[in-house]
Amino acid sequence: MKLPSVVVFDAKSYDRDFLNQAAEGRAELEFLPIKLNVTTAPLARGFDSVCVFVHDELDRACLEVLAAGGVKHIALRCAGFNLVDLGAAKELHFQVSRVPAYSPSAVAEHAAALLLALNRKITRANSRVRDHNFSLEGLVGFDVAGKTVGIVGCGKIGKKAAQIFRGFEARVLAYDLYPDTEWAQKYGVEYHPLDRVLSESQIISLHAPLMPETHYLIREETIQRMKNGVILINTSRGPLVNTADLICAVENGKIGGVGLDVYEEEDDLFFHDHSNAILHDRQLAYLLTFPNVLVTAHQAFLTQEALEEIARVTLTNVVAAFQHQPLIQGTELPLVK
Ligand code: NAI
Repeated sequence: MKLPSVVVFDAKSYDRDFLNQAAEGRAELEFLPIKLNVTTAPLARGFDSVCVFVHDELDRACLEVLAAGGVKHIALRCAGFNLVDLGAAKELHFQVSRVPAYSPSAVAEHAAALLLALNRKITRANSRVRDHNFSLEGLVGFDVAGKTVGIVGCGKIGKKAAQIFRGFEARVLAYDLYPDTEWAQKYGVEYHPLDRVLSESQIISLHAPLMPETHYLIREETIQRMKNGVILINTSRGPLVNTADLICAVENGKIGGVGLDVYEEEDDLFFHDHSNAILHDRQLAYLLTFPNVLVTAHQAFLTQEALEEIARVTLTNVVAAFQHQPLIQGTELPLVK
């Protein structure tokens, strides 16, 4: 029996491990380390599905090459789908699937990890101790218990983050377009308008999706409404924050600490080793010199549980698409013009 064939773009060792395990003789996989775009798309010729990640570029030109090469199904191994031109995908009769929720806990826990590492200066302390410097000078943090934490965007991940911070005995304020009052009552979370969440919180964690309305949600004007010395955590999408304004606010002390898992200009940097190259992104290079800024390279999703779920959903959909069966409910993107 012929098995569906899949070419996995921008593949890393962990993609290979988890996808191979999930394939279990149900599909033939080929892994390519390069990103999918119009130039690399001819490499997908003859495959039934392409499997892609957040920095691949499936614009109209790329999709036309895929269609001409016989590809029928696009499996996004991520939740966000801003990398695909859905209008062109519809015209070219592709089936497009994604993994809408793989592990909200993974991302929420990483937001908490960034906050704790930043507040308790764990990375500085660790490098000091390794140098046999056991001084505590400059390592004073604060208790999260009793502080006010603002959650901006309270969906699957935001709710998990809110629950974690409630576990730390913080007061938690949430802003969302669609408040879930039953959940808020259960966990002792208060919904408020954005302005109030920004102005009353000592810690702000961003969990809203990137959309035109949330682009630069955090900029000079909104930063001015925050408390002096506020800690800002962003594990959502880089462009929620205006980086130039963020830098000014850290320079003048308005913002007291920043934990970023995502960055406005991350696309050409994150997920790759540039340690032998010059970092041409001056904003990022400058941010990395601040002792109160902690950056991770979009790794909040990177847990075993999340990777297993991504692989399970992706492979199930590859097989279903090949056999003309319905995909897992809620994973197929409605294609609009
Ligand atoms: P979700 O769809 O469950 O929740 C998003 C929430 O934001 C919803 O409750 C929605 O009502 C709310 N929202 C929409 N527009 C808003 C606005 N203008 N202002 C305030 N709230 C608004 O999504 P989920 O799973 O919680 O993911 C949130 C974001 O986390 C994703 O969009 C993605 O950008 C990011 N993410 C980051 C990962 C990482 O590895 N760093 C991994 C997975 C997701």
